[in-house]
Amino acid sequence: MRILVLNGPNLGRLGTREPDVYGTATLADIAPLVASAGTADAPIEADVRQTDDEAELVGWIHEAVDARTPVILNPAAFTHYSYALRDACAQLQGVAPLVEVHISNPHAREAFRHTSVVSAVATGVIAGFGLDGYRLAASAIIAR
Ligand code: DQA
Repeated sequence: MRILVLNGPNLGRLGTREPDVYGTATLADIAPLVASAGTADAPIEADVRQTDDEAELVGWIHEAVDARTPVILNPAAFTHYSYALRDACAQLQGVAPLVEVHISNPHAREAFRHTSVVSAVATGVIAGFGLDGYRLAASAIIAR
């Protein structure tokens, strides 16, 4: 199974960005983690991407819709205000699963992080488990 693992702004800086919040692992650590949720019978091919550009991220969601590809999405700050991303994600409903992932637990942080405009159109949300959230998301997709 192929899974698109999409990451929004500033996540390219994982490893050095606020390590007390996001840890010291890097974006390169995500692909093997996601693949580890696969089995010999059901291997996972993780296509991990990151962008700081809202239009590029929306385009990748369109690509997933057209190819009916499951998506693990960490929208980063776009989580909290991007209606364009939300509207793109809505097109995945009934087409392929979408799991919203956050490394930190936004609900335990500043008030502006308590709102996600994406969650209502996601299949499910995983937050607060560090990078392991990506593996948990892949397991959830496999289980479906
Ligand atoms: C984040 C949480 C967001 O509030 C923040 O803007 C991020 C990362 C997370 O993975 O915990 O960039 O999505």
